This record gives sequence, C-alpha cells and structure tokens, in this order.
Amino acid sequence: MKPSIIVHGGAWSIPDAAVAACRAGCQAALAVAWPILERGGSSLDAVEAAIVSLEEHPEFDAGIGSHLNAAGRVALDAILMEGQTLKAGAVAVVERIRNPIRLARKILQSSEHLMLVGAGAEKFAVEQGMALCDPEELITARERRAWQQCSVHGHRDEFHFSPGTPGSPSSVATGTVGAVAMDSQGRIVAGTSTGGTCCKRPGRVGDSPLIGCGCYADEQAGGISCTGWGEAIMKVVLAKTAADLLRAGYESTGEPEGAAFRAAQKSIEILAVRTQGTGGLILLDRAGRVGFAHSTPRMAYGYVAPDGSFITSV
Ligand code: GLY
Repeated sequence: MKPSIIVHGGAWSIPDAAVAACRAGCQAALAVAWPILERGGSSLDAVEAAIVSLEEHPEFDAGIGSHLNAAGRVALDAILMEGQTLKAGAVAVVERIRNPIRLARKILQSSEHLMLVGAGAEKFAVEQGMALCDPEELITARERRAWQQCSVHGHRDEFHFSPGTPGSPSSVATGTVGAVAMDSQGRIVAGTSTGGTCCKRPGRVGDSPLIGCGCYADEQAGGISCTGWGEAIMKVVLAKTAADLLRAGYESTGEPEGAAFRAAQKSIEILAVRTQGTGGLILLDRAGRVGFAHSTPRMAYGYVAPDGSFITSV
C-alpha cells in the first residue's frame, strides 16, 4: 500500500509572526518521518519520530517549550495508539521525561497497562532504560516569562507573546502536537503529545493522552489526533467521534472522495454545537487519505501529497 502521513502543531489563534515557525516545525517532522515510511518502515516508528521532532521544537506546547502549570512546572501528557491491535500506550503528568511520546511507546509495547501517570510513569521509564531529564531542560525563557506574568496578573494569552508586541510573538507560543501515519503494510498509528494548558492546576490532565479523546486509531475506520481545549474535547470524546463518523461513512457510502474531510468537519461541528468548545483535528481514513478541520482561527499542519511533495500550512 502507499504510505501516508499527516502531522499537526496545534489549533489556536496563531499570530502572523508565528506562521513561518509553525510551518517549519511541521515540515521538519515530515522530513524525519516520511523517509521511514518510504523505505518500508513502520507507522509506529514514523509517528514516534514525527512527534519527537515536534516535541523538540521549542515553539510548540509539547516537550521543550511547553506551558508551565500554576506551580511553575512543566507536566507532560502523550499517547500512541495502533489501529491494527487497538493497543495504546499513554502517559500523563510527567515532569522529567524529555520526549513523553517515547515513554508512551514503551508503555504500549512493554507494559500490561494502557496508561501510567506521574511518579509511577517515571519509575517505569527508568526500568525501561530511559534517562530522566532535569525539569528545567523543558522550560524556555518565553514560557518562564509568561508564567511570571500570569502569576501576577492572572492568565492571559498575550503573555505568551513577545513583550510589548501584543499578538506578535517572536516565536510560536503554543500548540499541542500530533501525527497519524499509515505504512506500506496498511498499519495505521496515531499519536498526540502536549504540555497542556497554561497555568493549569497541578494534576490536571486534558484530552490529549486519553484514548478516544485526544487520539484514536482503528484500522476499520482510520487514525485521528486532536488539538484544542481539552475540557471540551473530552466531553464529546472527539477522536472516537471522528472514528465513528469515518466508519459510518464506509458503511453507508463506500469510500467516496472527500469522506475524510467531511468526517473531520462534522466532528469539529459536534464539538462546537455540543460544548461551544474550539479545537482541531487531523486524520487519515483507513485508505490513508488525509482529512483535517479546525474551528480556531488557525491550525498548523502538514502532510505528504500523493506525488510525494510536502504540504504545510497554518
Ligand atoms: N488539548 C490539550 C489539552 O487541553 O491539554
């Protein structure tokens, strides 16, 4: 089968000045992941590689560059899910894991559990041979400054922009990240990674690492990664909702062109109508065709077109 991949770097009101950095981050993720698929590698490897690249990009709200919680600490969530087996590995509220998507994979492949959180997750990481990082490694000057301002004045989005230039950051301020890939054997994998919301209460977990909320993969339907306001996304189990719409589309109309986009759009409409929440999602249907939608002003995303060219946009 022809492989396919789509990635995202978050759905939010991305300012003009951040567009180039967001596109570059998505381009870099495709550049590491697509060769894996091209040479016959697995979708699991490709999605992990794409998300590690996005986590390492300091502009996104995942891994390095994540928002700080109310206690001034980074607390990370991530998930990987396989469409063939319905196995998933998820991690939440870890503070010393530089690339939580790598730990999610360890949980998927080497744990009897689906999700580990906090100190237990970090202990499992060490048992699996992963190094713990210094929590300071994950904190950028931009996010430290934003947290200090939010601590004094209460949370405001503009504090994550450059001081003195509201709406015009020197670099990208936020963005949960994710990827969905199908390999040459038709195996679909989806993954999502996030630092969560700025100034969140310590212990808060959003949609991202929750199976069916921030991520879902089922080879009978497709794979989905979500981004946006977690407290709304969880209410409609957004990724599973999109998977169900993909499946229903196959059952009623076969595999028409545009079905992936319709499922993505309908899912975002359900999010808006039922919760008044905003967000976005990317998906591949079970044939590997891309779809995406968002109700935020912008979403950063990238995918590989049928001719092999990289399409990125914000
Ligand atoms: N969607 C990311 C979060 O709410 O944590």
